[in-house]
Amino acid sequence: EMACGEYGPGRLPEPEAILAAIEAALGGPGPLSGRHVIVTAGPTHEPIDPVRMLANRSSGKQGFAIAEALAALGARVTLVAGPVGLDTPSGVARINVETARQMDDAVKAALPADAAILVAAVADWRVEPAPFKLKKADGPPRLDWQANPDILAGLDADPRRPRLLVGFAAETGDVEEEAAAKRGRKGCDWILANDVSPETGIMGGDSNSVHLVTHGGVESWPPQSKDEVARALIGRI
Ligand code: CTP
Repeated sequence: EMACGEYGPGRLPEPEAILAAIEAALGGPGPLSGRHVIVTAGPTHEPIDPVRMLANRSSGKQGFAIAEALAALGARVTLVAGPVGLDTPSGVARINVETARQMDDAVKAALPADAAILVAAVADWRVEPAPFKLKKADGPPRLDWQANPDILAGLDADPRRPRLLVGFAAETGDVEEEAAAKRGRKGCDWILANDVSPETGIMGGDSNSVHLVTHGGVESWPPQSKDEVARALIGRI
């Protein structure tokens, strides 16, 4: 009898796939064994009509690198991913979402967790999507903007708040000052801040130059690959 309900000769998934599924369910051996960590990554897409949407720029690479590094150290990782074309890292349980509200629901459904690292570039606003394609001949549409839930601030206010809450801050102004203010506003423990001004090449690129903002002050890390940033962050965790 096979999983699909048919009878007859069947075929198991590859052993690597079976091992990855077991590791995703249980966490593997390592210093973070027995810990559950939620990671958000990628953009959210907020529909305007059946063909148009509002989105933030985000490749998802940094969040996926963090999920992979956590799993490699034995954590059970729930990766809540917006629409990105990246492969699921080995040993990671991935939940795909489109909108900010779906991401918020998926994060809450994944609680409790020991830590949450919110890397996603969440769209701050949404509109009530038109059921039919808006026609150009009708002129530029008036969009009725509404605020999306702030997932990070919501986790801080939740009675099941993970013990360690880490946010990211994408800034184009005074990065350190803005990130320190954001840390206070959102109630998270740490913020990893980066300068995403177009000339830095960080958006969509493979390297990242970040500042870790904690209650103790600001640490500026040297420019390094997104994989190295992930490992450095998990080293601190
Ligand atoms: N974030 C979130 N939910 C939102 C918006 C942001 O969880 N609706 C999280 C991001 O995942 C990130 C942190 O909050 O960890 C900061 O995101 P950022 O876009 O820099 O901050 P905003 O609150 O959107 O502030 P602003 O756009 O005014 O800089």
